[in-house]
Amino acid sequence: MSADRRGGPPARCRDRPAAARPARRLCSVTALLGLAAALGACGGDDAQGPDASDDLVLRYGLEPMPAMVHPADNPPDPDRIALGKLIFFDPVQSSGGDVACATCHLPRFGFADGRDLPLGPSGIGLGPQRRLTDPDMVPEARHSPTVVNVGFNRFGAQVTADGFMFWDGRVRRLERLVTLPQLEFSEMRGDAVPVEAALDSVLARIRRIPEYVELFRAAFPERAALADAGALESVVDSTTLSQALAQFVRSLTGVESAYDRYVAGDRDALSDAARRGLILFHEKAGCVRCHSGPMFSDFQFHVVGARQLGPGFQTTPHDDPGRWLVTRVESDRYRFRTPSLRNVAETAPYMHSGGYATLRDVVEFFNRGGGDHPFVDPARLEIEPLGLTDQEIDDLVTFLGTLSDMPEIEIPERVPSGLAVPR
Ligand code: HEC
Ligand code: HEC
Repeated sequence: MSADRRGGPPARCRDRPAAARPARRLCSVTALLGLAAALGACGGDDAQGPDASDDLVLRYGLEPMPAMVHPADNPPDPDRIALGKLIFFDPVQSSGGDVACATCHLPRFGFADGRDLPLGPSGIGLGPQRRLTDPDMVPEARHSPTVVNVGFNRFGAQVTADGFMFWDGRVRRLERLVTLPQLEFSEMRGDAVPVEAALDSVLARIRRIPEYVELFRAAFPERAALADAGALESVVDSTTLSQALAQFVRSLTGVESAYDRYVAGDRDALSDAARRGLILFHEKAGCVRCHSGPMFSDFQFHVVGARQLGPGFQTTPHDDPGRWLVTRVESDRYRFRTPSLRNVAETAPYMHSGGYATLRDVVEFFNRGGGDHPFVDPARLEIEPLGLTDQEIDDLVTFLGTLSDMPEIEIPERVPSGLAVPR
């Protein structure tokens, strides 16, 4: 771990007498609060020129969000997005007609579900009230993340349409992800159909609804022509389903948060507390070591030892080996993908297990150096105690709140299947 990521201010700044510090706005604000030395907020002697000395954007190299990268074979198209939206909200995709994508990715819960672990088939109610009615059904193994801004997910540092998806990065590219929930027993499938038949049964249900077939034909005219010529079984197939769904999900972006306005030059977009939180994020608390770049994620996998609730994932009960499931490399056990922190204030609870109710709980977890998981060897933890004061924890939470910008969408009044729309 290098000093500039975690540590205090550069020595030349710390050692300089207070009187010699440039009295610019941020410096004087933080000096008043007695934080200047701890936070390294005096700056000013970098090569940026005099006006840059209190500019956190320059100091930390804060970047705006890049343009969305679309896969070459699925460029954005309004008809496909509109179709994908209807399917996203339509429980027609689940065997029991009782689970839509939106059941676990609901606008009013930040496009997550407001629960620790999601409940799929046989569930009634939404959000924290949802409960299972079938005694043989189990909750999902992992917490439902937001789907807002997932089109910006990266592959390590690479800006690409093939970004890592899921808590363990087991899938890259939205087009490949969006036809997987239909196959999962506890997500959408239930036990009405075997996994091999699950996607075909979804497609068969959609093909029986003339309104959908027309919408697919309008959104995919070339595929419709191929289907008419007998070269494709139907215009409704796994390719068109995944392309429409992926385009809708990719269209769910929010990149005009207070933080984004600040990066774009509106220096009043962040309060003093939020600016202090931003400084802590980059310096004393070292969050930026993993939550880096405009998505606040390095799109790498780390061991922090978040507590595990619920059934765990596939192997030992109450245990989720994380990235190990994908690579089977021992050193990847208990690594999870650094989640984006965009909109994080809208998507409680937190972590792959949903085991932390509030943002303050999460910051306190990092402040004590993580390690809430009984099976994770403390020597493997990639974080250590931070010594943050209560005030500093509050400032970090305030800063995280500036990363919110939720897309406003209208939930469809009805969907072509006629089933109840989760809202
Ligand atoms: C029963 C709840 C449930 C349903 C239904 C569901 N999801 Fe999810 N979704 C989850 C969970 C849980 C995860 C995280 C799984 C993991 O990481 O292993 C997830 C992850 C995702 C992600 C990845 C986000 C990221 O940043 O990695 C996307 C995208 C997504 N879902 C889209 C969809 C779409 C599209 C549908 C409908 C076809 C859908 N989901 C249906 C619970 C659900
Ligand atoms: C060593 C890398 C690393 C550092 C340093 C780090 N994080 Fe994280 N963070 C992660 C990983 C990995 C997860 C997901 C862990 C899991 O789900 O088990 C996470 C999860 C989170 C979450 C939950 C997000 C969600 O959607 O559930 C928040 C909030 C968060 N971190 C904030 C912070 C803050 C604030 C700091 C600095 C005090 C910080 N992190 C430092 C790697 C890191």
